[in-house]
Amino acid sequence: MDHRPIGIFDSGLGGLTCVKKVMELLPGEDIIYFGDTGRVPYGSRSSDTILKYTRQDIRFLQTFDIKFIIIACGTASSAALPRIRNEFQTEIAGVLEPACRAAASASRNGKIGVIGTQGTVRSGKYLHTLKEMDASLKVFSKACPLFVPLVENGHTQGALARLAAEEYLLSLKAEGIDTLILGCTHYPLLTDTIREVMGDSVTLIDAGAQAAVYAKERLMAANLLSDKACGTVQYYVSDEVEGFTDIAQMFLEKEIKGSVQKIEIEAY
Ligand code: DGL
Repeated sequence: MDHRPIGIFDSGLGGLTCVKKVMELLPGEDIIYFGDTGRVPYGSRSSDTILKYTRQDIRFLQTFDIKFIIIACGTASSAALPRIRNEFQTEIAGVLEPACRAAASASRNGKIGVIGTQGTVRSGKYLHTLKEMDASLKVFSKACPLFVPLVENGHTQGALARLAAEEYLLSLKAEGIDTLILGCTHYPLLTDTIREVMGDSVTLIDAGAQAAVYAKERLMAANLLSDKACGTVQYYVSDEVEGFTDIAQMFLEKEIKGSVQKIEIEAY
């Protein structure tokens, strides 16, 4: 039994899709969430910059005596985590392996699509991880750079979202994929639009939610779960707090109860 909090971070708000799943699966856990809203997006940055930001985000979370960290960011999970995993004592899970595991077991025809930021697709890590799990899988990747700004600005449905989704996804649909990894934690907010374009026969894999499932497995195995009836969530951001609550509630699909504070992430 362990009442220390779980640390979760993302470049911005996308990681809240993972927080939502952790709250559902592990309601007794305290959560410290950091959204690097002052430096979002990570996806269009160089791998060295993503690496620097990821180290700082982890160092900030470690100031809370964290028992487990989830990198709820597809970009940091792909471009940074493989290079820094051994630098920290705390166990760190990314979204990549859990999402690949779920996709490999969901696919019936062995054709899997992966969508993510430019940084994620450029890293090739989803492709590599899926191929390692099953060399016979056929993987089709596509960067969708407009999806994050659409989501951050609330355009999750409607003509703009639909146009972008058609532009990015019709080529994947033409390949006959039966499973699509939403490899960026912002993308679950576009689920309805993505489903409209891809059709109901394609299974959508929410990478942040899969990371939450994986975290539960790891904490259970290590006997690190909390036995509290109800956990708390504290939110930290690197840009102004104003406006965070409204958009965060859209991600969480519920009212935010915990405090929201701004921090200077460059200090970590
Ligand atoms: N949520 C981030 C991810 O999962 C995307 C946003 C960004 O580009 O920083 O990759």
